[in-house]
Amino acid sequence: MTGRVRSFVAAMDGSKGSGGDRDEAAAASATVEFLGAVHELAMARKREPGPDLMSAMVTGSGEGAGLATERMGGILIQLAIAGNETTRGAAGLGMRLLLDHPDEWAAVVRDPALVPSAVEEMLRFRPPVQYTRRTAAVDAPLGTGSESPVAAAGDAIYLSIAAANRDPEVFPDGDRFVIERPAGWRTHVSFGVGAHFCLGAALARLELNSLFAAVAELAPRIRLAGNIGPGKSNQFIDSLSHLPVTL
Ligand code: HEM
Repeated sequence: MTGRVRSFVAAMDGSKGSGGDRDEAAAASATVEFLGAVHELAMARKREPGPDLMSAMVTGSGEGAGLATERMGGILIQLAIAGNETTRGAAGLGMRLLLDHPDEWAAVVRDPALVPSAVEEMLRFRPPVQYTRRTAAVDAPLGTGSESPVAAAGDAIYLSIAAANRDPEVFPDGDRFVIERPAGWRTHVSFGVGAHFCLGAALARLELNSLFAAVAELAPRIRLAGNIGPGKSNQFIDSLSHLPVTL
């Protein structure tokens, strides 16, 4: 199943080649294949439940348990992208930032207590999710000034996380990657805000903190080794395809 998730994500991601163009036919057939695999697995877990999320979803007794497999496909697609590409992207982009800022990396190696603030700074500086999108339910001004543009009901509104994380009124020094920020430095919006705030933020933070603490301990002399190659980003998710290093 892990291999199927990986090939599904690769087909959906639109990063083949350098232009980010997605092969729509391949993406559609990957979706059909993935949903088929989810269905098979759900049936197997219904027959023989195990200690896993899928078993809980098809058999459990809590709220939302016993979901129809069609709904589960959508949820697992969401998790395959939301919980996978994002954290993978953050790990590569964050490592690259630290390699590009050797003084900051040296500080992390000297004092691993800096890992959490390094993780927050990499998420701010190079957010894996570039924007969120909302649809206006009613006519609504975008801002408080009298000159603010007005979104009409039904308009799609794109909210740039990358730009918000460098808003000069909030982050006066926002174009610098600095892992030790003064107390009171505002937090980024890389996990979104409000009702749809990332459900996996705590897990992602745990994974990234564990990863960078382990690299600092086990490979303190890590260096870039050659060409990073074309980015793997599309307009929505930013990540790297390769990050060659020597340890
Ligand atoms: C560094 C890693 C991650 C980043 C940068 C990230 C970013 C985001 C952002 C910006 C949103 C808000 C989308 C919106 O407002 O429309 C979001 C929502 C969400 N994320 Fe994450 N995410 C990460 C990791 C994860 C992980 C590990 C999981 C699950 C295991 C996850 C599951 C979700 C889900 C289910 C939502 C939808 C929440 C809702 O609509 O109520 N994310 N994420």
